[in-house]
Amino acid sequence: MGIEIVRGDITAQEVDAVVNAANSSLLGGGGVDGAIHRRGGPGILAECRRLRDSSHRDGLPAGQAVATTAGELPARWVIHTVGPVYTTAEDRSHLLASCYVESLRVAGELGAETVAFPTISTGAYGWPLDDAARVAIAAVSETATSNVTTRRFVLFDSPAYAAFESALARAEG
Ligand code: APR
Repeated sequence: MGIEIVRGDITAQEVDAVVNAANSSLLGGGGVDGAIHRRGGPGILAECRRLRDSSHRDGLPAGQAVATTAGELPARWVIHTVGPVYTTAEDRSHLLASCYVESLRVAGELGAETVAFPTISTGAYGWPLDDAARVAIAAVSETATSNVTTRRFVLFDSPAYAAFESALARAEG
């Protein structure tokens, strides 16, 4: 299945593409988004602005993904995706899954062989970790993308690592 889980910082990953937990504006924020822009430098935001002036005038809808340069990061590309905000009022799991599926699709188009994901929507967007891990592992393990051989989840803290470790163990049966 080629799925790895590691403790660490998404900005330090030496992979072809790192996925950003962005917001629809594509113009930066806190958390993962802030870390990627801070460490990646102004080149990433400049390219995001160009997207807003061209193909993504209304921003990036939740569940979709788009790539830019990774600037000063070890990675070659950043794949920006926008997670759904968690709510008990409706089931948005399909949008959360789509973040991973679409990021892998974009990675395939780029020719990326190694991709690192943060845990989308589990911070500011409030998604419970265990459910986010279940959705993420299922989406990534069920998406066939020929050239992507390494799919790495980068967990920032112990609770996230434990949640993904359990979800992966359940998925592998
Ligand atoms: N590396 C890996 N994981 C990280 C890092 C990092 N450097 N920094 C934070 N995280 C983890 C958090 O612990 C959280 O569990 O990433 C998870 C996602 O948190 P957020 O970054 O808040 O992302 P999300 O919940 O999808 O909210 C997105 O927050 O930062 C803004 O601009 C962003 O508006 C958007 C919203």
